[in-house]
Amino acid sequence: MSHVKRIPIAYLFISFLMAAFIGGCSSTEGPRHTQSFDSDWRFKAGDIDGAEKPGYNDSSWIKVDVPHDWSIEGLARTEVNDDNTTEFSIVKGDWKFNKGDNSRWKKPDFNDGSWQTVHLPATWEETSNYTKDNVFGWYRRELTIPANVKGKKVFINLGKIDDADETYVNGVKVGGLGQFPPNYTTAWDIIRRYKIPGDIIHYGEKNSIAVRVFDGIQGGGIYSDGTKITEGIFESTSPAGGGGGYINAGTGWYRKEFTLPESNQGKRVFIEFDGVYMNSDVWLNGVHLGNRPYGYSSFQYELTPYLKFGNEKNVLAVRADVQQPCSRWYSGAGIYRHVHLTVTDPVHIAQWGTYVTTPDVSTEEATVHVQTKIRNQSTSNQNVTLETVIVDDAGHKVASSSSVQNVNADGDSVFEQSVKISNPKLWSLEEPALYHIKSKVQVNGNNVDFKDTPFGIRSFEFTTDKGFFLNGKHVAIQGVCDHHDLGSLGAAVSKRAIERQLEILKSMGCNAIRTSHNPPDPELLDLCDHMGFVVMDEAFDEWIQNKTMNGYGKYFNEWSERDLKDMILRDRNHPSIILWSIGNEIPEQGSPDVYEMSKRLADFCHTEDPTRPVTSACNTVDAATKNGFTKPLDVVGINYQLPAYKKYRGKVKLIASETASAISTRGEYNLVQDGDSLKIEKQLNYQCTSYDIIAPGWGNTAESTLKAVKDAPWIAGEFVWTGFDYIGEPTPFPWPSASSYFGIIDLCGFPKDRYYLYQSQWTNKPMVHILPHWNWKGFEGMKIPVWCYSNCESVELFLNGKSLGEKKFSDTKDLHLVWNVPYTSGTLKAVAKNNGKIICTDEIQTAGDPAKIILTPDRTELSADGRDLSYVKVEIVDKEGRVCPNADNLVKFNIEGDGIIAGVGNGDPISHEYFKSSERKAFHGLALVIIQSTEKSGELKITATSDGLKQSGVVIKTSNKN
Ligand code: GAL
Repeated sequence: MSHVKRIPIAYLFISFLMAAFIGGCSSTEGPRHTQSFDSDWRFKAGDIDGAEKPGYNDSSWIKVDVPHDWSIEGLARTEVNDDNTTEFSIVKGDWKFNKGDNSRWKKPDFNDGSWQTVHLPATWEETSNYTKDNVFGWYRRELTIPANVKGKKVFINLGKIDDADETYVNGVKVGGLGQFPPNYTTAWDIIRRYKIPGDIIHYGEKNSIAVRVFDGIQGGGIYSDGTKITEGIFESTSPAGGGGGYINAGTGWYRKEFTLPESNQGKRVFIEFDGVYMNSDVWLNGVHLGNRPYGYSSFQYELTPYLKFGNEKNVLAVRADVQQPCSRWYSGAGIYRHVHLTVTDPVHIAQWGTYVTTPDVSTEEATVHVQTKIRNQSTSNQNVTLETVIVDDAGHKVASSSSVQNVNADGDSVFEQSVKISNPKLWSLEEPALYHIKSKVQVNGNNVDFKDTPFGIRSFEFTTDKGFFLNGKHVAIQGVCDHHDLGSLGAAVSKRAIERQLEILKSMGCNAIRTSHNPPDPELLDLCDHMGFVVMDEAFDEWIQNKTMNGYGKYFNEWSERDLKDMILRDRNHPSIILWSIGNEIPEQGSPDVYEMSKRLADFCHTEDPTRPVTSACNTVDAATKNGFTKPLDVVGINYQLPAYKKYRGKVKLIASETASAISTRGEYNLVQDGDSLKIEKQLNYQCTSYDIIAPGWGNTAESTLKAVKDAPWIAGEFVWTGFDYIGEPTPFPWPSASSYFGIIDLCGFPKDRYYLYQSQWTNKPMVHILPHWNWKGFEGMKIPVWCYSNCESVELFLNGKSLGEKKFSDTKDLHLVWNVPYTSGTLKAVAKNNGKIICTDEIQTAGDPAKIILTPDRTELSADGRDLSYVKVEIVDKEGRVCPNADNLVKFNIEGDGIIAGVGNGDPISHEYFKSSERKAFHGLALVIIQSTEKSGELKITATSDGLKQSGVVIKTSNKN
């Protein structure tokens, strides 16, 4: 659905020069040109022979702009969904089963006549009363494979197996998921679908199937039949599993043709990818430039030796290979972040070569230390002058330094400069003041490079007894963890989409982001610098021991040093970053020999950036402490485990790196009749109640965590799991649930009720919020639990004008107030007071039948840059304009003018509707349509229609001036 426009390279250079000029750096300042390389790619899903070759004919491929995520667009083409495959679902029916473990049981001629006959799918606890933990068992059956499938790819589908398996056909291993002890990992929710090599199949005859299974705890065995249900991009048997949101990925190819002017001969040319998911290979003109397994790392390749100039075409080819299951959350697939092309002189500032620190900071004076690595790719030694000018946000020069140094041919040299700034404006959460380093490199009086590096001046400190301090002032970290997907946009990054997320979080009082569990898109960090958030920048979710079958573990030994160092080199100038995290819930915490591993990674961080503390998010903090995992850490991260806050008090610096994991669905309350009264079902019809009463075994309600953190002021603060719902990990439900319930905010960005709990605890701006809604036809006279969140002293509740009493927070230990209100339709009003004085109110009314649609865009003016977004909230309301809390009308969207629909959504975790569609059902009265500008300025009108409802339309202007 990407908007594509061919722009000649020469034009891009002119635009760049103009942009640079307008941005305050004149074109005479140096020949570094960085241009976006996002537009005009071609894409095809699947693995394609020869696609790296320059002459390959890609004219049938689709045109796309990047950032692009082929899996959210439903373009995935995996081996199991092409036309030449046959799949046998073999779970249902009778199998032979035996407890224990013996390698002879895989043999085709083994006589299993004495084994128990079991009817599957079912756990072995159910069929065989085999209730022990950490045990093996084997299943066997026969399968006739017809002769007419010869020549096709043959798969067997073994459904879901708890926890790990190894599967044999005719005595030959054909697959296995999870890992057996000693490095046990479970793969309990992944469908086993294994390919049988043609040469081991007995066509037209019986084939022996033998499955070796290991069970950790709870249910074991082949427990689910793995029926394939495909609904849009969601497939119940996807190798992504529930964790990955049941969305396939597979392999995909991108190609891009470009020319470079003759004047670039003699320059150095680099291509930089902010991130390609995953396992990318890049070729230029058929020459392989490199491979990068980790999909979250930024990387660059030098193109210079293989380039052609003038009218001759260059061809870049990128292959990404997403071997699912490789992630515990939705990963996306493809060139999902930006691409840049940079042209420099042979003498230039190296990639990530500027490093700025502020060793002494006070409001009177700050020392700014700038380290600049200059690379000399010319053939002779050069006498290089580096002029460093520091300007404030308004562009005023505040300090400067100049140094001259020799840089050897084909070498590099680090320049160290220190300057003082008087009365600096400190970077803080409330006023995130930024400065810029303008680095000018000269050789023989000629400008050869110029670079702008934003930075901030601030000091911070973690303490063992009083938490966290920024510029000497105590700050409670009120943070959230978030994954990288952007709901309906999938993993394809969009600066505006991230900015909107941060805006929504900021009004909740959130001041910190944990980039769970990987290096983020660089724009997220720019935004945090600008908007005033502190960041815990995290490298990994696993080291060697895999959490998913094809997770990072298999790359760790070879790549962890490079990936971690690159994250730090790329990110270390961001004032927002206050912690490097070397990993989340690393299974090796439990290994006695983990100290060296942990120290190795912590040392990399300390070497590349001695100014920031290193942490890791520990879910077994006792084991991590005992085994030396935490020893090299400066700050110990505790995930959940509330009692550990007290246990480790004063011993180490602490951060609650992950908390809550409370679950809820926006708009669901699950009130059901129970005799004469009502009860709240925590889970019902794959939805979780929005009363804050539910969390998985390892988690806690939002409220109990807030209280525990408040009671432990020696902790720096918390990162709640999660700010936003994300695709995948639909705990606690299996299929059809496909996205998470953990978010404080749903997948569309609509707040759940928990949002207001955090707002009441994290902000001072007066607020009060009532839950649930007030449409309970059929429950007349029954008592509905009404909760209020507020940061005022007391709340008085009124039903249809009659007071139901005033309640004070000082009279309860809870962070919410409760009334049990006999239901009658009408208006429920909460009046919040301080000192008896009315401060603010909230009101909900019983809505009538759906009558019309209301569209509310978050922005009515967009930049005509082909990227800007307007998030249009769609409300189904009654004739008085009251949102209908149960409405699920299908709404169709139409755009006239210069814009496209970038995505639609409704926040329902079990919806399998297509995110890239032009229609969406409402969920609890709301839906979302995201409008994207084109590069043409003008006007667009979006109209929403739905059967039986009055339609609605809004106009959005797009212009080039923003
Ligand atoms: C944590 C884990 C997160 C997420 C969360 C769900 O243990 O670190 O990535 O899986 O559980 O509750």
